[in-house]
Amino acid sequence: MSAEPLEIYLEEQDLGRGLREDVRTGLTAAPKWLPPKWFYDARGSELFEEITRLPEYYPTRAERSVLAERAGEIAELTGAKTLIELGSGSSEKTRLLLDAFTRRGGLGTFVPLDVSVSALRQSTEQIAADYPGLRVRGIVGDFTRHLHRLPAGGRRLVIFLGGTIGNLLPAERAGFLAAMRAALEPGDWLLLGTDLVKDPAVIVPAYDDGAGVTAEFNRNVLRVINRELDADFDPEAFTHVALWDPEREWIEMRLRADRPHRVRVLDLDVAFAAGEELRTEVSAKFRPEGIAAELAAAGFTAHEFWTDADGRFGVTLARAD
Ligand code: SAH
Ligand code: AVI
Repeated sequence: MSAEPLEIYLEEQDLGRGLREDVRTGLTAAPKWLPPKWFYDARGSELFEEITRLPEYYPTRAERSVLAERAGEIAELTGAKTLIELGSGSSEKTRLLLDAFTRRGGLGTFVPLDVSVSALRQSTEQIAADYPGLRVRGIVGDFTRHLHRLPAGGRRLVIFLGGTIGNLLPAERAGFLAAMRAALEPGDWLLLGTDLVKDPAVIVPAYDDGAGVTAEFNRNVLRVINRELDADFDPEAFTHVALWDPEREWIEMRLRADRPHRVRVLDLDVAFAAGEELRTEVSAKFRPEGIAAELAAAGFTAHEFWTDADGRFGVTLARAD
């Protein structure tokens, strides 16, 4: 079966408006910041896939090992008819679940949702070709805004992998989980991937790799702004920084201006001092008790919590109360 045409909840003009608002808010703030969803144009999505293959970037491999071990159990426990994936990207690890559901039978529809049209186009075509009989409905949307529009009916399993929930700030995270719960019926399931707190000596290199791929990914947000808003950032005038915050237990990616300069974007004339840093992402790391508590506060009960053999990455299977 070929993939259905993508359902568009986010038009080009919505993306443009959202980017303009975020750039205006973030670049006039002190300290300056930008939300991480703007990394992911076609090049950003490719760079992220490259990151997942780096020796330093352990989360993808660790999460994949959990899914490889538990996919059959997840298919049995949930008995899902519809599998919805938020921030699906390439949906590469999701194939482990699709294989398990194929063996079990009963899954009818796969609904990946992502802001990246290019990533969705590729993944939906490939998955539809590889899983004949599965209905594949790709949605171009924002998981912080469009959860109420997820398809209803039949037992649903929503998966949110990769630790992407950690890219939301704590208040956004609580809002996201509440909206997720409101979009589900009691008995629906949520499978949540979370990177875990560990020695910063392991975390920091995962966000500052030797080959410089993460640095390119980080600078890509400036390229997106240049292209979409006709701005004049010089990405090479910024150094990639990855910083562990031991209090908040998150890693921050920043771009540090190498010299004083000004950037024209929208109607703004943005001054950067030498050494000034622009925060482009937080990636929170979690503790098992914190995950269960945040889920409970939103109206979910955590049923299973699995980690990889090294205890680096957690996968929680929770049920909507
Ligand atoms: N789930 C995949 C990809 C993780 S990368 C994995 O585990 O490897 C994060 C993905 O989330 C990217 O594909 C990006 O385009 C998407 N994304 C980021 N912010 C988003 C948002 N607000 N709404 C929808 N998708 C988003
Ligand atoms: C998508 N997200 C979970 C990644 C992370 O690890 O926070 C994005 C990323 N940023 C730098 N490297 C990867």
